[in-house]
This record gives sequence, structure tokens and C-alpha cells, in this order.
Amino acid sequence: MKSKDWLNRQKNDFYVKKARKHGYLSRAAYKLIEIDKKFNILKETKTLFEFGAAPGGWSQVALEINPKIQITAIDLLELKINHPQITFYKEDFLQFNFDKLKKNFDLILSDIAPNTTGHKSTDHLRLSSMLFDIIDTLDQVMIKGGVFVTKIWKGSDEREIINILKKKFDEVSYFKPDSSRKDSVEIFIIAKNFKL
Ligand SMILES: C[S@@+](CC[C@H](N)C(=O)[O-])C[C@H]1O[C@@H](n2cnc3c(N)ncnc32)[C@H](O)[C@@H]1O
Repeated sequence: MKSKDWLNRQKNDFYVKKARKHGYLSRAAYKLIEIDKKFNILKETKTLFEFGAAPGGWSQVALEINPKIQITAIDLLELKINHPQITFYKEDFLQFNFDKLKKNFDLILSDIAPNTTGHKSTDHLRLSSMLFDIIDTLDQVMIKGGVFVTKIWKGSDEREIINILKKKFDEVSYFKPDSSRKDSVEIFIIAKNFKL
């Protein structure tokens, strides 16, 4: 999509306007709200880890729904929210040393997105490659019974991602929130009850 078309779409988008009115830092905030309504993941969470957290819409939603939640977040870009319950690392997660974190996260979210080329299968593979790395870190940081939610872009690696998650979690579901653009290949996977 040309950047002018993208700007026009953003300007007229219902959820962009709604997010601005509510003070959410991203339109994506509504996707997490919908995921939580259906899967009830935030209320019981003590410690959340977020991959690709900037500008911070999901962190805002997590704190709003569960004011006691402790968040650790990582992104290449700065978070636009500063909160005593958020520990933020401005780093590439691929270079991050996960040894410095404790194995105590009961919810791990990923809304990570690589820069897109516009070529659907290339973009899919780029995001999938990141997701394989993220899934590899789960054993190191997630506690038994934990929940993992991730965005994927549909494509050839999707089945393999699902199969790996099915081995690690008791329940694996797909979800397309209403706030996720209909013409987007984006879909969310909700994996519950980490087996260890
Ligand atoms: C769709 S945005 C996340 C929006 C966020 N959920 C919110 O509601 O504000 C995707 C993020 O992934 C981050 N990202 C992409 N590659 C990354 C990497 N290798 N390490 C850390 N963050 C990365 C981008 O910088 C971007 O901020």
C-alpha cells in the first residue's frame, strides 16, 4: 500500500479515532481488549512479558484491566508510556540476554512485527522466523500453566508454528478480532496452559 493511501486509511479508521479519543497509544489496544474479553487472560496474570511493546497500547490495556500486573517489555523503539510497574528494554529481542530474567512470567504476549516489504510470503516468513525464536525463549521464562498470545501473518509456516505450540500447551486457539483489519492476513494465536 502506498504511504498516501495508508495515511488516508489511518485518518478515516474507526479504531484509530476511538484510540485517540480514549488516549490509547495504538489502534492495536482494541485487539488485546477483544482477545481478553474472549480468553480472559489478563485478570489472573501476575507477571507479563511483552515482545514488540511500543508504543505501548497493549501495556496500557494490561494495566487498565489488571492494575496489579507487573510488566517487562522489549522493543527496538521507545515506549511512550512510563509506569512504575513496567520494566522496559529498548533492545532487539534477538540480541537480548534472557538469562537476566527470572522464569516467572505467567503471560507472554507478542505483537511483534518486522518491517514489511509488501510481498506477502516474504513478510510472513520474516515474522514466522521471529516467532520461532520467541517460542524458543518460552521454556526459559514462562512458568507452568502460563499463557502465550501471538500475532501471526497467515502463510506457509503457520501450521508448523501451531504444531510446535500444541506440543507445549494444552489448548491452542485462533482468533481474529473485529478490530483487526478484514483485508489483513493477521490472526492471533492463544495458547493456554504451558506444559513445561
Ligand atoms: C505492531 S507494533 C506493537 C504495538 C503494540 N502492541 C502496542 O499496542 O502499542 C510492533 C512492534 O514490534 C517491534 N519490533 C520489531 N522487530 C523487533 C525486534 N527485533 N526486537 C524488538 N522489537 C521489535 C517494532 O519496533 C514495533 O514497535
